[in-house]
Amino acid sequence: MFWSSKRPLVQVALSLFIIPLVHAATTCNGHSELCDRSYGNVSFVGAHDSYAVGTNNLAANQDYDVTQQLTDGVRLLQMQAHNLSGVIQLCHTDCGLFNGGTLQDYLTKVKTWMDANTNDVVTLLIVNIDDLPPTDYSPVFENVGLDKLSYAPTTSPLTNTAWPTLGSMIDAGTRLVTFLDNAADLTKVPYLLDEFTNVWETPFDVTDPAFDCSVNRTHGDSSTQMYLINHFLDTILLNSPVPDIAEANVTNGVSGTGSLGAQVDTCVAAYGRAPNYLLVDFYEYGGGSVFQVAASINGVTYDPTTPIATPIPTSTTSSTSGGGNGNAGSLVSPSQFIASLFVGLSVLFGAISVV
Ligand SMILES: *[C@@H]1O[C@H](CO)[C@@H](O)[C@H](O)[C@H]1NC(C)=O
Ligand SMILES: *[C@@H]1O[C@H](CO)[C@@H](O)[C@H](O)[C@H]1NC(C)=O
Ligand SMILES: *[C@@H]1O[C@H](CO)[C@@H](O)[C@H](O)[C@H]1NC(C)=O
Ligand SMILES: *[C@@H]1O[C@H](CO)[C@@H](O)[C@H](O)[C@H]1NC(C)=O
Repeated sequence: MFWSSKRPLVQVALSLFIIPLVHAATTCNGHSELCDRSYGNVSFVGAHDSYAVGTNNLAANQDYDVTQQLTDGVRLLQMQAHNLSGVIQLCHTDCGLFNGGTLQDYLTKVKTWMDANTNDVVTLLIVNIDDLPPTDYSPVFENVGLDKLSYAPTTSPLTNTAWPTLGSMIDAGTRLVTFLDNAADLTKVPYLLDEFTNVWETPFDVTDPAFDCSVNRTHGDSSTQMYLINHFLDTILLNSPVPDIAEANVTNGVSGTGSLGAQVDTCVAAYGRAPNYLLVDFYEYGGGSVFQVAASINGVTYDPTTPIATPIPTSTTSSTSGGGNGNAGSLVSPSQFIASLFVGLSVLFGAISVV
């Protein structure tokens, strides 16, 4: 009698307490250890200008397209959105200089990948260069179906410790976090979050491999915000910063002067916690080193099931043919780039627009 009548009651009573604490997801972003960690306490590798894909193209920041980036472990996708005749396109500085296609085509690839990988939390960081209202973005998210996968906090900003766990975001099916660098308005679109009240950034377009950890841009209290390190090295060509691809193996490295690992160490020493986002160019240079750095600060083992993509060699001769895997952008030669750059820069007030 006791067991048949009371035990179910005990179980019900216990489950009321236990179920809300237990995640259905047992693997989160590839690791069981990450399921119970707050989103704000995880380090993610990010692809700088993730749509700017090309080889022998000074306006490109990546060799491989967004699908390969996600497959290899990139979980923050940064992009620059422009209004081209009323359509949101992912361009670099200027759509005449580099056009990586429409936001909708890009987000369709993200949605396809996320549908096939249901235990992963992904973040988008949109540089809203033309100050478009969030209501210009929401129809694109709705067309693609990413609105349904989007995380919309009940209050925003959130301090770094206030974010939900990866496990709970995955269980709820709201595992896409999207930031706009300006013009966010949660009363209009609750899932397009304001970047700089939630996240601060280190300096960008850095040309000194010493990469400092100073607070460069924020609209909040950096001591309680998540933070992003702009760990991509530029070199100056005709007064404009362009990716220093010759140094990419070193820049993306685990240790040594100028490496990602070294900047992380500097930042941890300064702030007592690791950066949330590690934004890099040509992420596959270093042979997975950027993911190794993230795994190390997350306290998990970097153990890829398949080898990551290999760097696409650049040629020393200027070329518009290029090839390369998954090229999405129009290719420009250095001379075309320089010609367009003058146009772009005169329109867009200098180096800041080349971020
Ligand atoms: C986007 O571009 C279109 C066409 O040029 C223009 O009509 C519209 O006002 C622009 N949107 C914004 C928010 O500037
Ligand atoms: C932020 O970084 C940019 C580029 O690296 C620099 O020009 C600017 O002065 C910095 N601003 C602050 C407030 O540190
Ligand atoms: C980067 O490292 C890869 C793999 O070790 C090597 O094939 C490539 O030549 C290196 N590239 C540069 C620019 O150092
Ligand atoms: C997460 O918390 C641990 C323990 O406090 C800390 O060592 C680590 O740097 C934190 N990571 C992030 C990204 O906040």
